[in-house]
Amino acid sequence: MGDNGPVNDARSTTQNLQPGDETAPERGSRLYPRVTSFRSRRGALTEAQQTTWDALWPTIGRDVADDKIDVDAWFGRSAPAILEIGSGTGTATTAMATAEPHVNLMAVEVYRPGLAQTLQQIERQHIDNIRLLRGDAMDVLENMLTSESLTGVRVFFPDPWPKVRHHKRRLLQGPTFAMIADRLKPGGVLHVATDHAEYAEWIAEAGNAEPALSVLDWESPMTHERPVTKFEGKAQLVGSSVTELIWGKSR
Ligand SMILES: C[S@@+](CC[C@H](N)C(=O)[O-])C[C@H]1O[C@@H](n2cnc3c(N)ncnc32)[C@H](O)[C@@H]1O
Repeated sequence: MGDNGPVNDARSTTQNLQPGDETAPERGSRLYPRVTSFRSRRGALTEAQQTTWDALWPTIGRDVADDKIDVDAWFGRSAPAILEIGSGTGTATTAMATAEPHVNLMAVEVYRPGLAQTLQQIERQHIDNIRLLRGDAMDVLENMLTSESLTGVRVFFPDPWPKVRHHKRRLLQGPTFAMIADRLKPGGVLHVATDHAEYAEWIAEAGNAEPALSVLDWESPMTHERPVTKFEGKAQLVGSSVTELIWGKSR
């Protein structure tokens, strides 16, 4: 999203550490300095959001950490697990969770007010198959999930970082595809949507280059029906068309 605000890439805590230092966290740790796909955005919660946060977050939310998630235990049941990356205010998350009550849906987002709005929708609609993660999705993929644990991954409208000097910040590039492919079960699906034509080409090229992913020629284990989010609605108003990209992990 916008270009405002300070860059949050954890450098402040690790600026003197170098790869190979004995004291340096391992590469991939959330403490390791790296370029992130987001900028920190401040945003206070309303009083009502704070009340909902205090009531629900301890049970259905957690901050990103270095320990693995026992997904079935967190949901209190064993079911196909889907991860949505960058869920924003949760419009797609809540609609898709409602459409697929048999699925355990986790959504990761860095923006706390967006998570708070998602919590409010969950409370209002009495949805019980969503869990929320606050932090960098790369940390979730790398540190909190195990190989072949996900039935699906969704990335809807990832920030396009259009300037060439910012392309390194793009979430969807080779190493991310490799990580997602590892976390998917055989037969699992990655669904991406973007309204940015040039990023769509970049994403298609990087996804097609990942050997573990292929064209989906079997029945998808998850729905591809998305509601139009507020973000997407704005893109439509300025005439942007949306590209949907779907891959399956070879069985
Ligand atoms: C352009 S918005 C799209 C939001 C939502 N998917 C929609 O369609 O309305 C991209 C979102 O991804 C989040 N984001 C970007 N990089 C992220 C990361 N590495 N981990 C978690 N969230 C991230 C941003 O905070 C932002 O809310």
